[in-house]
Amino acid sequence: MTTTVTPWDVEGSVDYDKLIKEFGVQYISDEHYNYLKELAKEKGLEEHIFLKRKLFFAQMDLGKAIQDHKDGKPVFLYTGRAPGGSMHIGHLIPFMFTKYLQDLLDCNLYIQIPDDEKFLFKKDLTLDKIEEMLLSDLDDIAAIGFNPEKTFIFRNTEFMSNMYPLYLQTAKKITFSQARNTFGFENSSNIGQINYPALQIVPTFFEKGQCLIPCAIDQNPYFLLQRDFATKLGYNKNATILSKFLTALTGPNGKMSASDPSKAILLTDEPNQVKKKVNKHAFSGGRETLEEHREKGGDCSIDVAYQWLYNIFEEDEKEIQRIYEQYSSGNMLSGEIKKILIEKINNLLEKHRTQKQEAKENNLLEKYMKTGELAQSMWNKKF
Ligand code: TRP
Repeated sequence: MTTTVTPWDVEGSVDYDKLIKEFGVQYISDEHYNYLKELAKEKGLEEHIFLKRKLFFAQMDLGKAIQDHKDGKPVFLYTGRAPGGSMHIGHLIPFMFTKYLQDLLDCNLYIQIPDDEKFLFKKDLTLDKIEEMLLSDLDDIAAIGFNPEKTFIFRNTEFMSNMYPLYLQTAKKITFSQARNTFGFENSSNIGQINYPALQIVPTFFEKGQCLIPCAIDQNPYFLLQRDFATKLGYNKNATILSKFLTALTGPNGKMSASDPSKAILLTDEPNQVKKKVNKHAFSGGRETLEEHREKGGDCSIDVAYQWLYNIFEEDEKEIQRIYEQYSSGNMLSGEIKKILIEKINNLLEKHRTQKQEAKENNLLEKYMKTGELAQSMWNKKF
């Protein structure tokens, strides 16, 4: 199976060494990992499991962002999500990590909700339908618990008039041929699509300081393009910190898809649904028969339960080691490793539901979008 990775499409199993080259990015170095670990210690936080297990594995100019932070120069975070509704666990990863970075760096954070992108790239979606998905997503995003005074969440259709001058400067710097080469546009692409990259780049210019973007690696092409002209406009080249895709529940073939909700763990799934989905759909590295499993052991390199425990859930080094050894030696069965995973997922979802409720009670969304300190300053800002 061939692999295609564009910002809109991830299919096939992914060779990350190759991706690094194709995307023109670098691995996160030990030095970077160590710096973030030290910083965490200073703040009384643990090293994040996504760093410890290298789910976040690649970067552009992360060293520059780190250096600026060390030197006391302003660094800000930027990320985003096109409205999709029905968020699943994979969607939570960049936001959880972004919150962690905001805690570490104690800095401003901008979250773009490109409702325009969704509309332009999905043939059959109406603006009304997108509105519905967007509202549902916003509640999940607000549940993450960003700093309400230092976070601005905006949707493009609403914030466009404020951004328009900055958008114009950006759009003027990108030629059609650059956009086509980067994103593979064709003559049949609508002109809104061709224009969209400028919109995703604009927030990297919201401040004069160093922009650092936590996201999945498929979004990097926008930010590589930004680096061609940022300094000409009087801004810093953006930096990125990039994650792999979370292996889909159904196996190592591309990222988790919410388009088939029966096969992804949605944030709204009840404990029993989680149990059923994991038991039924989680791709297993276990063997055909009990006898064979006991003899040969499970294959952790393809077992989704193991992958998820390793990458997101089991922080304890000794425990993940134990699970690895027990499962690959055949002592632990598929049903047993799945049981461990089910419990972890349900704990996470339970916590998420509680935080979602708390966010509602505290009107967090209103703060992020309108009334918080950063939000207010953005609505008053002249670009
Ligand atoms: N294009 C992203 C998506 O499809 C949304 C997005 C907008 C984004 N701005 C971003 C993602 C900045 C990462 C960083 O979901």
